Amino acid sequence: MTTEYTVRPGMLPPERADHYLHLEGARTVATEALRTAQDNIAATLAAKAMMCIVGAAGNGKSLSVNASLRLLAPDNSYRIAFRARPTPRDIRHELFRALRLPGEPPGRPIEFDTILRSALARGFHVLVCDEAQWMSRECFEYWRYLWDDPSTDIAVVFAGGDGCAKVLRREPMLASRIYIWQHAVPLTLPEVLQVIPAFHPLWAGVDRDLISLVDKQAAHGNFRAWARITKLAADGLAAQGRTCVDEHLLRQVYGRLGVGT
Ligand SMILES: Nc1ncnc2c1ncn2[C@@H]1O[C@H](COP(=O)(O)OP(=O)(O)OP(=O)(O)O)[C@@H](O)[C@H]1O
Ligand SMILES: [Mg+2]
Repeated sequence: MTTEYTVRPGMLPPERADHYLHLEGARTVATEALRTAQDNIAATLAAKAMMCIVGAAGNGKSLSVNASLRLLAPDNSYRIAFRARPTPRDIRHELFRALRLPGEPPGRPIEFDTILRSALARGFHVLVCDEAQWMSRECFEYWRYLWDDPSTDIAVVFAGGDGCAKVLRREPMLASRIYIWQHAVPLTLPEVLQVIPAFHPLWAGVDRDLISLVDKQAAHGNFRAWARITKLAADGLAAQGRTCVDEHLLRQVYGRLGVGT
């Protein structure tokens, strides 16, 4: 996907880039997932510990972590992104890039680790490892190795799908080092009714019953689903020169979502 926003390697993305398809008019709202993440990340940073936020796709894990860190550690957070199925070698290279270390990455793991450990000893670093469900046991071991090193000064936030919890829980030595576990769950209906009208102007004046119906029929408390529906509905209204969401428009949106097929 192309983007008009420049996200520098390793840096937190700008707020707009957190929103699905950079949805025009979307606002970050204080969901339970976001508020809890903020508290948990604050506690993890204070303890210089490791934490893990897990849950199904679209439940707001990445957005919650990014939004919290923009507030709590805007200048010393480093995001690590992977291709599918990284190896410890990929983690070394991504960290090298994220930390913007000078020169060429060393060829030998021992030299590489010396450089990384000394960089991570120079001031407190918050390392964010998103999409952590792709990591193997060896990868988690590598993070543990960095975190256990007495010279490094780091906190680590893992975010990932449920697979990530499975891998971690199979390894008590790793799991026992995770200070806080957070489960990012779907929005409840009362939460939907509270946050969706604030999320986008499209829903601001819409009847609560209609919002409940959309959640029941199509979004099921999943925030990315709400963002998709909002984008499709906004595009539909713009194309028809209209401004109000109604059941007719929603049927067209559902058709494009494949709901009921
Ligand atoms: N608190 C929020 N305020 C506004 N929009 C939100 C919020 N949380 C999530 N969203 C919307 O939902 C989309 C999906 O959220 P996010 O990318 O954080 O999910 P995720 O749990 O990381 O999913 P995945 O496991 O697929 O990476 C966001 O791009 C955004 O559009
Ligand atoms: Mg994510």
